[in-house]
Amino acid sequence: MRTTLSTLKSMHQSGEKIACLTAYDASFAHWLDQAGVDMILVGDSLGMVVQGHATTLPVTLDEMVYHAQMVQRGNQRAWCIADLPFMSDSSVEKALEAATRLMKEGGANMVKLEGGERVLNIVAQLSSLGIPVCGHLGLLPQSVEKKGYKVVGRDRSSAEKLLKEALALQAHGVDMLVLECVPSALAQTVTEALSIPVIGIGAGSGTSGQVLVLHDILGLTVGKSPMFAKNFLEDTDSIQKAITAYVHEVKAGYFPASNHEISL
Ligand code: KIV
Repeated sequence: MRTTLSTLKSMHQSGEKIACLTAYDASFAHWLDQAGVDMILVGDSLGMVVQGHATTLPVTLDEMVYHAQMVQRGNQRAWCIADLPFMSDSSVEKALEAATRLMKEGGANMVKLEGGERVLNIVAQLSSLGIPVCGHLGLLPQSVEKKGYKVVGRDRSSAEKLLKEALALQAHGVDMLVLECVPSALAQTVTEALSIPVIGIGAGSGTSGQVLVLHDILGLTVGKSPMFAKNFLEDTDSIQKAITAYVHEVKAGYFPASNHEISL
C-alpha cells in the first residue's frame, strides 16, 4: 500500500519513527522502497553527490524533475519528496510553477523548500492549492555561500529564532519539517512544540524520524562524511542489507546514537 501523508501523520502520532533516505535514480529508489524506507527524498544534494559540484546551487529545476521521474519509476510505495532547487522559490509565482512541475512531471508527492520567514507566503500559497509542503530549517545548504556549513541554534537567540520560525511554518501550512545540523535538545524542543512530523539530519534522536544522504550511509561520499552520518555498509556485505539496517536502526531508535548527536 502506498504511503500517504495521513500514514506519516499517524506514524508520528503513534511514536513510530519515520525512516527517510535520499535517492536520485530508479534502481536505488527500488531498493530503498523494498527495504521499507517510509519516504524518499529527491534532494538537491544530487548536485554534490551525483553531479560533482561543490554545493547544491547549480542544480536546475529541469534536473530535479528528471531525477524525480527516475526515482518514481523505481518506487512503488514510499512517499516521495522533491527539493525546490536554488532560486526556484525566489517568488510565489516561481515556486508555484516549480512545485507544479515537480508534482505533475516528476511525480513527487511533496515539495521541500529551505528557510523560515522568507518562505512563509510561498508555503501558504502552495498549501492553499493542495500541495503538500515540507519546510527545512537549521543549516540551509542553499545559503552556504552566505552562512557556511555551521550548526544552527547553539546560542539562545538563534535557538529562539529557529523555534519561532518552525511554529510560523506550521501555522502557514507546512505538513512536515526537516531540521538539519541542530543541537539534539533544541530539535527535541521543536518536535514537542509542533504537531507535524519533524525529520532530523544531524539533529539527534528526539525527532519524529531521520533522513540521511544515501551516499553517506553507503560510504560513497567523496571526501569527508558529516560526523552525524553513519556508514551502514561497513558491517554488512550488500547495499540492500545496509539500507535495511538503516531502516531497522531508525525504527528501533538505535540510530542516531549519542556519537552522532550535536550537543549544545
Ligand atoms: O538535499 C538533500 O539531500 C537534503 C537533505 C540534506 C535533508 O535536503
